[in-house]
Amino acid sequence: MAHPAVTQDIAEPTAAELIAARAHLSMHAMDGLVLEGVPLNAIADAMDTPVWVYGGGTARLRYRRLAAALDGLQTHIHYAVKANDHLAMLRVFAREGAGADVVSEGEMLRAIAAGVAPDRIVFSGVGKTARDLRAALGHGIAQINVESPAELQMLSAIATEMGRTATIVLRVNPDVDAGTHAKITTGRADNKFGVPAAEAVALYAHAATLPGIVPVGIALHIGSQILSLAPYHAAYARAAALVRELREAGQYVSRVDCGGGLGIGYGDEAGASPEAFAGVLRKAFGGLDVSLMIEPGRWLVGPAGVLLASVVLVKGAGRFVVLDAGMNDLVRPAMYDAWHGIVPLSAVDILRPTSLVDIVGPVCETGDTFARNRALAPLRAGARVAILDAGAYGAAMSSTYNARPLAPIAMVDGAHWATIRERQPHAAMWAGESIPDFIG
Ligand code: LLP
Repeated sequence: MAHPAVTQDIAEPTAAELIAARAHLSMHAMDGLVLEGVPLNAIADAMDTPVWVYGGGTARLRYRRLAAALDGLQTHIHYAVKANDHLAMLRVFAREGAGADVVSEGEMLRAIAAGVAPDRIVFSGVGKTARDLRAALGHGIAQINVESPAELQMLSAIATEMGRTATIVLRVNPDVDAGTHAKITTGRADNKFGVPAAEAVALYAHAATLPGIVPVGIALHIGSQILSLAPYHAAYARAAALVRELREAGQYVSRVDCGGGLGIGYGDEAGASPEAFAGVLRKAFGGLDVSLMIEPGRWLVGPAGVLLASVVLVKGAGRFVVLDAGMNDLVRPAMYDAWHGIVPLSAVDILRPTSLVDIVGPVCETGDTFARNRALAPLRAGARVAILDAGAYGAAMSSTYNARPLAPIAMVDGAHWATIRERQPHAAMWAGESIPDFIG
C-alpha cells in the first residue's frame, strides 16, 4: 500500500530541479542562491525580509526573446502594466521599445512616468470611468479598447466635449474557453468582458457614425496563464473571420489587439513558447493585412521576480514553517490555489533530506498558506527562502492587511543591484486617515 506522504509529493519538482530549470538562478556553495549575478543573501542582509527582488536583466532577455519570435509579423508588444507596475520594470521594457497596456488612470500615469510615450499606450478595461476616459484623451494615448455600447456612448460624448478624436478598437468576446483557472478566464460568453461576437458588426458600424470616435480594429483577450495554444487558435480564427466580415460590410479595419495570457511553468510544466505562439498569429492573420498588438504581462515578468522571506518559527512538531511574508504580500496561493516553487537560500538546505511541511504566513487566516505538504529540508528560525516566479501579480496585488507595511523591492541587473522601493514606514499606512472631531 502506498504511503500517503509519498503520493503527495510525487509530481513536485525538487528545489534543485526548480533552480536548474531557471537560467537566471544558480546555487553556490558559499553564496547560496544567486539571481543573475547577485547573491540573494546580500540583498536580504541589507534590506531585511520580506523583500521582493526583480531580475531586470531577466525581464529584458525575455522581452528580446518574445520580440525576436514576432520578427516579421508587424506586431507591437504592449506590456500589460497590471502584472508588475514598478517604474523600473516599466523602464526596462520602455527602453526595449515596448508600449504599455493599462487599465486605469493610475497605470497610465505610471507608464508615462516611466518613459512610455503616450502614443504607445492602449487603455483596456470593462469599467473605465468618465475620469479614466478624460485622462486617456487628455494624454493623447494611442487607443482605447471599448468593451460595451454604454462605454462607446460615454466616450463619444467626452471626446466631443473635449474636441478630441478617440481611436478605438472594439473588444470582442470570442466565447472560447482558455482552459485556465476560472478566476482568470475572460473570453467565455458568461464572462463580463467584451461584446458578444454576434453584436460586434452592428456596434462597429454604429461606432463609425458616432462623433469623436474612429474605430480601427478589434481586440480580444481570452484569459491568463494559458499553456495550450489551442484556445488561441480558436479565438484568433474567430477574430480573423470577424475582420473579414467587417470589411465585407464596408468597415475600415487595420488592427487586431490579440491580448495577453501566455503562461509560464511554475512547477515543472513547460511555459508557453513565444515561437509557437508567433506561429499561431501567423496562421490566423497572415495575408490579412492587419497590424497586430499583443499585451503580455506574466510571461515577461513572472519568472523574473522572487519574494524572499525568513522563517519566524517552526511549530506543530515541524509541520508548520511560519514565514515573515504573508498573503498580504503574495496573494496568489490564497486566491487561486497557485503553486509557487519555494527554495532555501542556503546551499546546504537543498542537499539535506526533506520532509513534508506546510509553508505558511503570519496573517490571521488559514488561507495564508504558501504551500501544503511541500518537501523541504527542515528549516530553522532565521533561515531564508525564495518564493519563485513571483514577478507577476506579486507586489502589484499586495495589500497592507493586518497593518503589514508593503515590502521593499530590489532590482538586479547582472552584477548590479539597487533598492527600488523602500519598506513602507508604518505611519505611511495611516497617512491619509483622520479622526473626525465628533469622535472626541
Ligand atoms: N490584457 C488584458 C486585457 C488583460 O486583462 C490581462 C490580464 C492581460 C492583457 C495580461 O495577461 P497576462 O499576459 O499577464 O496573462 N492576477 C491573476 C492574473 C490576472 C490577469 C488579468 N488580466 C494571477 O495572479 O494569476
